[in-house]
Amino acid sequence: MPENVVLEARDVVTGYGEVEILHGVSVTVHEGEMVAVIGPNGAGKSTLLKAVFGLLPLRSGRVFLKGEDVTNQRTDEVVRKGLSYVPQVDNVFPSLTILENLEMGAFVRRDGRRDRLDQVFSLFPDLVTRKGEVAGRLSGGQRQMLALARALMLDPQVLLLDEPSASLSPKMVGLIFDRIRVINQGGTAILLVEQNAREALSICHRGYVLAMGANRLDGEAKGLLENAEVGRLYLGA
Ligand SMILES: Nc1ncnc2c1ncn2[C@@H]1O[C@H](COP(=O)(O)OP(=O)(O)OP(=O)(O)O)[C@@H](O)[C@H]1O
Ligand SMILES: [Mg+2]
Repeated sequence: MPENVVLEARDVVTGYGEVEILHGVSVTVHEGEMVAVIGPNGAGKSTLLKAVFGLLPLRSGRVFLKGEDVTNQRTDEVVRKGLSYVPQVDNVFPSLTILENLEMGAFVRRDGRRDRLDQVFSLFPDLVTRKGEVAGRLSGGQRQMLALARALMLDPQVLLLDEPSASLSPKMVGLIFDRIRVINQGGTAILLVEQNAREALSICHRGYVLAMGANRLDGEAKGLLENAEVGRLYLGA
């Protein structure tokens, strides 16, 4: 494996109960890279992130983190090794305050918590003024900001994001994508699952199109944006 690959999912087969959902999906993320995963509802995008993060056992295939085989390792182990994940739903604790949510995000961190909190607050200044309020009172967009902030408390090397822009206003989508770009420019590699395919491809370096639990297309994000099939199926062209 080339040295600069930070995350590789190779031929991942997984599913729920009797049903196989992913039939051998492969995705690679390089150091500092931002990679989009797009595809229709039910394609298996969220399932892929869950499998990579150790929440869903692989039936076959492998997951490598910085060259180390972490297939089917527990979530807390992959977190310690530099992976962080923001799920599509239920990604904050609504009854805890913003500050408590962030502190929970850092639970496996032994030191430097204070410095990290300052760094995270500097990315999300709106959260500072509201840090004593319970997360359940935040708007949808602010909640997504908090979920991102929480995942950053561990200073991950690779961040898995599942539809951070889902059901947000166009203005809020722009703000969230802007923060994601800044996080990536800070050196964090990102695997970004998105329904907003055009916006995702326009901030990412590369992209993968999944369909029916399999790889359909992949390549440079710019090329995918100009691809006729992608345009017709996913960009509303
Ligand atoms: N917990 C579950 N138990 C059983 N089937 C599930 C479960 N979660 C998802 N599925 C099924 O797996 C398939 C893929 O779902 P997944 O959530 O990965 O798709 P997705 O690409 O993320 O879709 P969306 O864009 O709607 O979020 C779907 O057919 C879905 O019904
Ligand atoms: Mg999903």
